[in-house]
Amino acid sequence: MQIIDGKEVAAKLRKEIATEVEQWMAAGHPRPYLVAILVGNDGASQTYVGHKEKCCNEVGFRSTVLRLPEETTEAQLLAEIAQLNADPEVDGFIVQLPLPKHISEQKVIEAIDPRKDVDGFHPVNTGRMISGLPAYLPATPDGILELLRHYKIETAGKHCVVIGRSNIVGRPMANLLSQKGWDCTVTLCHSRTQNLKEVVRSGDIIIAALGKAEFVTADMVKEGAVIIDVGITRVKSDKTKTGWKLLGDVKFDEVAPKCSYITPVPGGVGPITIISLMKNTLKAARKEV
Ligand code: GUN
Repeated sequence: MQIIDGKEVAAKLRKEIATEVEQWMAAGHPRPYLVAILVGNDGASQTYVGHKEKCCNEVGFRSTVLRLPEETTEAQLLAEIAQLNADPEVDGFIVQLPLPKHISEQKVIEAIDPRKDVDGFHPVNTGRMISGLPAYLPATPDGILELLRHYKIETAGKHCVVIGRSNIVGRPMANLLSQKGWDCTVTLCHSRTQNLKEVVRSGDIIIAALGKAEFVTADMVKEGAVIIDVGITRVKSDKTKTGWKLLGDVKFDEVAPKCSYITPVPGGVGPITIISLMKNTLKAARKEV
């Protein structure tokens, strides 16, 4: 069994992107510029945006975090987005989710110029991705592809079982792995799937992205399977300084001995997702999408 070290892969890719940024600027282009909008005071979102800002510094991007109060109205947020859409200095921007309840996430996503949508959430980018056109790929699925690539995990002809059909992870993941080059036979499971245990047990590659802590147990996993755990549920813990710890969607201790590869939580999928945002921002600066 091999542990997939997302931190190590992320560090390697970060260096590669930093080199590409240097070359891009040496050719006379401006420093790629990413803006993040953060509305309200959600603790996890503040941490994630902080990590994104730090990573921008490390690869040599310019970055700004626009912090807006919890009471920001939808109209005010849409006005900020319109400004960023029109600002020629801004290559790409993201609106950190979740948003306060009074703001429609869908409206906000659709207001972003698809050419600056480096999260890859706009329906135009989803459509381009599904059609196999150049697109900004959403960070988590793209990060998982980077991990599979790095560890040279065979995907062609393999049965990949994706658990969870969210717009930002499960569905794009299922689509990408079925595309040419990856060539998986994909099953997308969700809350209404019948015989879920049997279906998951038939998977050569299992991607757990349903958001239920320790849902995948050893009896659901075939010997030698590859396990990718996207879950990040915060639970109370008196053993950590913060008072909480992260649990994945996979019961790691009992599943790990059965599989060929597994991502830990934390340190597996999480660190690599930011790299995809950096890749997308560089693509935006180069006007590749
Ligand atoms: N919230 C959780 N993940 C993400 C992400 O990838 N992008 C944005 N904008 N918000 C998120």
